[in-house]
Amino acid sequence: MINIALPKGRLGEKVYAMFEAAGYECPSIKENNRKLIFENTEKQVRYFWVKPSDVSIYVERGAADIGVAGKDILLEYTPDVYELLDLNLGRCRMAVAARRGFHDDGERTLKVATKFTNIAAGHYASRGREIDIIKLNGSIELAPILGLSDVIVDIVETGTTLKENDLDVIETVVPISARLIVNKASFKFKTEKIENIVRSMKEQVKNDD
Ligand code: PRP
Repeated sequence: MINIALPKGRLGEKVYAMFEAAGYECPSIKENNRKLIFENTEKQVRYFWVKPSDVSIYVERGAADIGVAGKDILLEYTPDVYELLDLNLGRCRMAVAARRGFHDDGERTLKVATKFTNIAAGHYASRGREIDIIKLNGSIELAPILGLSDVIVDIVETGTTLKENDLDVIETVVPISARLIVNKASFKFKTEKIENIVRSMKEQVKNDD
């Protein structure tokens, strides 16, 4: 059996559709119930739905052989896994945003609110800018509006959340998309099966052009 951790939600459904098209279908997954684990013994695959930010934990520790995680999570938590394929799904970007008209004069410590403290710290360290990080868990956009921070480092997809809260992107930190990741020991011991899956998935990746 190959254990595959899928990110629960809309992205996960698109990811499963890719596995299905790649020949690793598991029809029971479409039954509308609250089960979390589904398997197809004939295809030797078992899928489970995992909170998106937890996928890399399952894969790093070997509870899953394969998983799909956002590049944001991989950059933030640097799990010890192989990143083998960009699925070109869930495309968005990590960006710095602030209230419209905000200008960083560089004269005092910049207050940065974010869920992604490592990404934010790395971004500002690379340019030698001193910052004070405020770790939040959601609704990050509120921070600059209420004066809790000067800027935010957060995910921007359509830009609607920023727009509706009078915030603007100042700069892009890094582009993000969903990546296929593999447990290191699994890759060593189930090489052929995993390589076959990765190859078939690669054929399903839709390019932008
Ligand atoms: C993310 C992000 C923004 C929003 C951006 O939040 O934190 O709030 O999506 O999307 P947009 O540019 O299309 O408006 P998410 O829905 O992941 O939830 P969160 O509040 O838990 O971060």
